[in-house]
Amino acid sequence: MPHFAKPAEGSWTEHYPELGTAPMSYEDSISPEYYELERKAVFERTWLNVGRVEQVPEPGGGHFTKEIAAVGTSAELLRDAADGTLRAFRGGGPTGPVPIRCEVWEGFVFVNLDDDAEPLATYLGTLAAGLEGYPFDRMTEVFRYRADIGSNWKLYMDAFAEFYHAPVLHAKQYVGNESRKLSSYGFEALHYQLDGPHGMVSSWGGMAPPKDLNMVKPIERVLRSGNFGPWDRPDIPGLDPLPPGLNPSGHKAWGIDSFVFFPNFMMVVWAPGWYLTYHYWPTAYNRHTFEGTLYFVPARTARDRVRQELAAVTFKEFALQDCNTLEATQTMLQSRVVTHFPLNDQEILLRHLHRTAARYVAASADRQPATPA
Ligand SMILES: [Fe+2]
Repeated sequence: MPHFAKPAEGSWTEHYPELGTAPMSYEDSISPEYYELERKAVFERTWLNVGRVEQVPEPGGGHFTKEIAAVGTSAELLRDAADGTLRAFRGGGPTGPVPIRCEVWEGFVFVNLDDDAEPLATYLGTLAAGLEGYPFDRMTEVFRYRADIGSNWKLYMDAFAEFYHAPVLHAKQYVGNESRKLSSYGFEALHYQLDGPHGMVSSWGGMAPPKDLNMVKPIERVLRSGNFGPWDRPDIPGLDPLPPGLNPSGHKAWGIDSFVFFPNFMMVVWAPGWYLTYHYWPTAYNRHTFEGTLYFVPARTARDRVRQELAAVTFKEFALQDCNTLEATQTMLQSRVVTHFPLNDQEILLRHLHRTAARYVAASADRQPATPA
């Protein structure tokens, strides 16, 4: 019995028939040869988010560097001394810096090594358009985590592209009664949506503030903060009403929307008025650098600041639990004892991610090699 409305087809997966329902191969996450194809077909062809405009120094103030190991180079970003225009270069080459495409969406800076790529806004599509107007530019208090992970980049994205693991994997993050209750309910998202290579999932989340204070731990009660962030929404424009792309099902219990912008940029927007980004930068077929970044409206009081710190350290705990399973997953997949895996209806974004990467690889095989810059 579903807790929330499903599409007319009966499941989210069948709502997008191109995804199919067959068990899925994970060969794409354990094959060094496939990774070599993916580097060129995906990371040299798509718009990659390398940071935010706030990270690029003022004109004359030097540059901001982002390593992109998958393409064997870095993106160097600077502002033109004459007119302040943002420019990007491919770094580190023997012939000096080579200009590369660079465009900005809502303050997020993207680069693309493919001179023939479609404009960024076209590429990001309707899911991104639905977020426009969110006050990203006001959320400049930033907490960053970075980790070297022993798994294929897509496996960590998979781990964050479904939420049904939360009541089980993160059971100890909740008070005992709440944990047992959540486990017995199981998990269903409110809504899923795919658009081209991108996707999103919308979820309930009633902990900010909880219905009953006994649902949360004492430190959360005292500080009015926790994993869902500080409970009291900042009083800034842009949060009420929210941009139309958030809480697409219009559910009153809405808590989180999580967006996957292909290939490796995820954004999680939380009901209490803050957001997270995740980046997954492959360094080998079985390794990647993970970045988790939290963005808040700058604290105005010490209490606000401690609330943000609590949300940040609670996030770190969750993320450690999430990535703790990944090296085992990678090792297990590499054994090839089992090669195909059934995916449930809460995992349609996993199916979509692997299928999208495969489509880029297939399309690239049909194409002439990119013109060397
Ligand atoms: Fe998790």
